[in-house]
Amino acid sequence: MFNGRFSLFNVSLWVLSVYLLAHVPLSEMRVDDFEQQALAQNREQPPVSTEKPEPINQHLNMGKCFHMPRSKCPAEGNCTKVGSMSVFCCDLDSARLKEALASTITQNTTYLHVLNASIDELDVSQAMFRRLASMAFTDGNIDKIVGQFPKYSSVACLNISNNNLTSEKLQPSKQRPFAYLFNLSVLDASANNLTEFPLSLVHSNRKISVDFSGNRYLPCKNFQKAMETNNSSLVTFLNYQHTYCALDISFNWFSDVRIVQIDHLRIQKELSASCRNIRPANINCTCVPERLEFLGNEITNLVAVDCSQRNLTSLPTVLPPNTLKLNVSCNNITSLQTVADDPTYEHLRQLIVDHNDIPNILELEGTKFIDNFMLFSIAYNKLKTIHTYVLSNRFVTTGPAFSIAGNFIHCDCNTEKMLKPWLLENFKNIPDYKMLECDDNVPVVDLVESQVCHTPRDWTDYIYYIIGLEVLILVLLISKVSYDYWVFKTAGYLPWPANKMPRLPCDWLCE
Ligand SMILES: *[C@@H]1O[C@H](CO)[C@@H](O)[C@H](O)[C@H]1NC(C)=O
Ligand SMILES: *[C@@H]1O[C@H](CO)[C@@H](O)[C@H](O)[C@H]1NC(C)=O
Ligand SMILES: *[C@@H]1O[C@H](CO)[C@@H](O)[C@H](O)[C@H]1NC(C)=O
Ligand SMILES: *[C@@H]1O[C@H](CO)[C@@H](O)[C@H](O)[C@H]1NC(C)=O
Ligand SMILES: *[C@@H]1O[C@H](CO)[C@@H](O)[C@H](O)[C@H]1NC(C)=O
Ligand SMILES: *[C@@H]1O[C@H](CO)[C@@H](O)[C@H](O)[C@H]1NC(C)=O
Ligand SMILES: *[C@@H]1O[C@H](CO)[C@@H](O)[C@H](O)[C@H]1NC(C)=O
Ligand SMILES: *[C@@H]1O[C@H](CO)[C@@H](O)[C@H](O)[C@H]1NC(C)=O
Ligand SMILES: *[C@@H]1O[C@H](CO)[C@@H](O)[C@H](O)[C@H]1NC(C)=O
Ligand SMILES: *[C@@H]1O[C@H](CO)[C@@H](O)[C@H](O)[C@H]1NC(C)=O
Ligand SMILES: *[C@@H]1O[C@H](CO)[C@@H](O)[C@H](O)[C@H]1NC(C)=O
Ligand SMILES: *[C@@H]1O[C@H](CO)[C@@H](O)[C@H](O)[C@H]1NC(C)=O
Repeated sequence: MFNGRFSLFNVSLWVLSVYLLAHVPLSEMRVDDFEQQALAQNREQPPVSTEKPEPINQHLNMGKCFHMPRSKCPAEGNCTKVGSMSVFCCDLDSARLKEALASTITQNTTYLHVLNASIDELDVSQAMFRRLASMAFTDGNIDKIVGQFPKYSSVACLNISNNNLTSEKLQPSKQRPFAYLFNLSVLDASANNLTEFPLSLVHSNRKISVDFSGNRYLPCKNFQKAMETNNSSLVTFLNYQHTYCALDISFNWFSDVRIVQIDHLRIQKELSASCRNIRPANINCTCVPERLEFLGNEITNLVAVDCSQRNLTSLPTVLPPNTLKLNVSCNNITSLQTVADDPTYEHLRQLIVDHNDIPNILELEGTKFIDNFMLFSIAYNKLKTIHTYVLSNRFVTTGPAFSIAGNFIHCDCNTEKMLKPWLLENFKNIPDYKMLECDDNVPVVDLVESQVCHTPRDWTDYIYYIIGLEVLILVLLISKVSYDYWVFKTAGYLPWPANKMPRLPCDWLCE
């Protein structure tokens, strides 16, 4: 009896040893083997542990991943089991991590936290990660993340906080590590140095909470996209108050980067509403935030409105607040009067009215737009003349640009005398100045005085000849009178024609 039991025990021990030897090579252990190892253990060694399985979502409460404090770290860089489903590791480098995970992760491991991993690459395609519901690699230094989470990974919470990660490391252009994380509901990528927002994460129509706080250089436009384009209630920003983004601020001549709190970006909704208010109704202009600007201490979202190719015959009215840029190219607009009349044009700095039917810019005289504009493009219109005085003061600085190509103006001597020098003088502000042409297709800057100024010559042009002639006649007259006098005195008679002249009363005086 005893013998039988002993040999039975012996045999099963032997079988197990052979099994393990066959299936668990000590080095280069593949992750898939854990599964088999665990299955084998399950089959042959019923668990003695009386520990109750932890509820599956215990660690995912309140949007937190499984996370242990440093004080609970196992001694000198190792992994340890926490309960039956969790593994906690500390201070591991690439080689040790592999080894340590191999000896602790089992089929049942659902939660993993690795604190301070210093590794060259984290291959997320490994099968052992597939069963994790919560995966955290925090407070370490990960050189890059490679591979792609397998399809139908159950990872619901991913914490890669504080790993000195940059975007190139996180989201290589070809592989998209997070593409198949269909169950991901929490992503903590805080305290890294990401420069690109992994938009693929928020594309699908499911709720997700993300933490991007402590990344200083994420572009604001990425956040704007994530917040605004889709149903914004799908993406929740954890640590909202402490999430900042980098704003490209283009002041007039230089650009700068300001770091702003992301709350400043929540404007697209209002913008869409005010975009629909543009009159005439139903022309479906598009309105996008162009850039943010600090006006005083306030951040103002400046808007770009595009109403090009809408068959408009006049400028649209009721633009969204703070419209900075308006593009109404390719319409049939005949007047700029609205710029002067509509108060919603007051922040306008860029007006593009190319390919319209505008005959002159007189209506802009004295408008705020003329005082402030940075770009005024009125190319391919029907300008017949350019009232330069409307614009003259604006070109003292190099900023503002004025575009007038493709207009065929009426040219005369005045054009050559006034407009041509004005174009040449302000060529820096009028990049296409050579393309302003006369009715006869001669560029205004090529006008030649002798060809355009053919007005009949004024009598004043002959004044010197007349004066010369008069002087000559006077001299001849004086000589003749002197000669007559001399003849009269010496010969006593008056030569012709003086002797034929009738006597005048004054002659009596002479005699
Ligand atoms: C991720 O890890 C960081 C750093 O250890 C921690 O502060 C944060 O709470 C964790 N985030 C989540 C969502 O668990
Ligand atoms: C790591 O811990 C396991 C037990 O969890 C132990 O067997 C192993 O020797 C430890 N390794 C080191 C390097 O401390
Ligand atoms: C992180 O782990 C490395 C070894 O991988 C160790 O040298 C370093 O001291 C650890 N950092 C901290 C803060 O403990
Ligand atoms: C995994 O969990 C199941 C049920 O909770 C248990 O029966 C089994 O022994 C566990 N396996 C290991 C390797 O802990
Ligand atoms: C994803 O989550 C749902 C419910 O939250 C669960 O039913 C499903 O099994 C999960 N999928 C995977 C692959 O874990
Ligand atoms: C962060 O990574 C860079 C290389 O990408 C490295 O030079 C730097 O030392 C790392 N910083 C820390 C705190 O580990
Ligand atoms: C973070 O990224 C920015 C821009 O790529 C870089 O200028 C900066 O040095 C990085 N900071 C750290 C600590 O790596
Ligand atoms: C919005 O959702 C649609 C599908 O639902 C997706 O195609 C699109 O890329 C999403 N856009 C953003 C910015 O998330
Ligand atoms: C946005 O999502 C919320 C909840 O997910 C839903 O109630 C709402 O109808 C959605 N709105 C749109 C416009 O899809
Ligand atoms: C604008 O959009 C509405 C609805 O999408 C459509 O009925 C209308 O025809 C559009 N108008 C123009 C000018 O495209
Ligand atoms: C503009 O008018 C043309 C013809 O008159 C028409 O084909 C085109 O669809 C119109 N465009 C819009 C935006 O209404
Ligand atoms: C409007 O302008 C387009 C060219 O931009 C022209 O083809 C069309 O005939 C014009 N329509 C009217 C009504 O003038």
